[in-house]
Amino acid sequence: MGTSAARRKRLVVLVSGSGSNLQAIIDACADGRLHADVVAVVSNKPDVFALQRADAAGVPAVHVGVHPGEERADYDARLADVVAGFDPDLVVLAGWMRILTMSFLGWFPQRVVNLHPALPGDLPGTRAIERAWDEALEGSRASTGVMVHLVPDEGVDDGPVLGTATVVIDVEAGFDAFASLMHATEHRLLVEALDELCTSAPDHTTDLTEISV
Ligand code: GRF
Repeated sequence: MGTSAARRKRLVVLVSGSGSNLQAIIDACADGRLHADVVAVVSNKPDVFALQRADAAGVPAVHVGVHPGEERADYDARLADVVAGFDPDLVVLAGWMRILTMSFLGWFPQRVVNLHPALPGDLPGTRAIERAWDEALEGSRASTGVMVHLVPDEGVDDGPVLGTATVVIDVEAGFDAFASLMHATEHRLLVEALDELCTSAPDHTTDLTEISV
């Protein structure tokens, strides 16, 4: 972590599920690995464990559900209003399972960060861990990985890469061990990539340093 006297960055984390990646961020903020604070957690789903994790950490936990019949652009504009209200330096998609349109992204240029459990250009979309495993069982894949990237537009799991980590698949060890390794890799890489963003020069968005672990 850098030692600059710069103010701590404000992170708003968007979640849809268990929030283990959110927890990794909260823990890193608390123990000094990240010069940042999670100032809000926003979920598109009610009653997810991630919201409980936010509560337990004393962080505002907000559910922004989709109204019946609501257009995607309208939901995204409403979501942007909520998120902007917390004045984030970075918006982190940590297990956020909903595509965002420019109605949201347009409000946070160069400031939305996504985590995806596959390497750039590989296995975009949902169930990337399971699909990599299935291909490994079929013998057509030996490894996969994790990436963290900026989200400039509506491309799914695509955008300027901030960090990658390769994960070798050991089919003998079983799926649970593979999934655990993938999640541990996500937690580590996400914190490292956020650290780079939080401690880099103010013009970091024009001089992104790609990390590889
Ligand atoms: C992670 O594997 C993330 O990459 C994927 O969904 C999972 C979310 O996990 N898109 P969690 O909610 O952070 O525990």
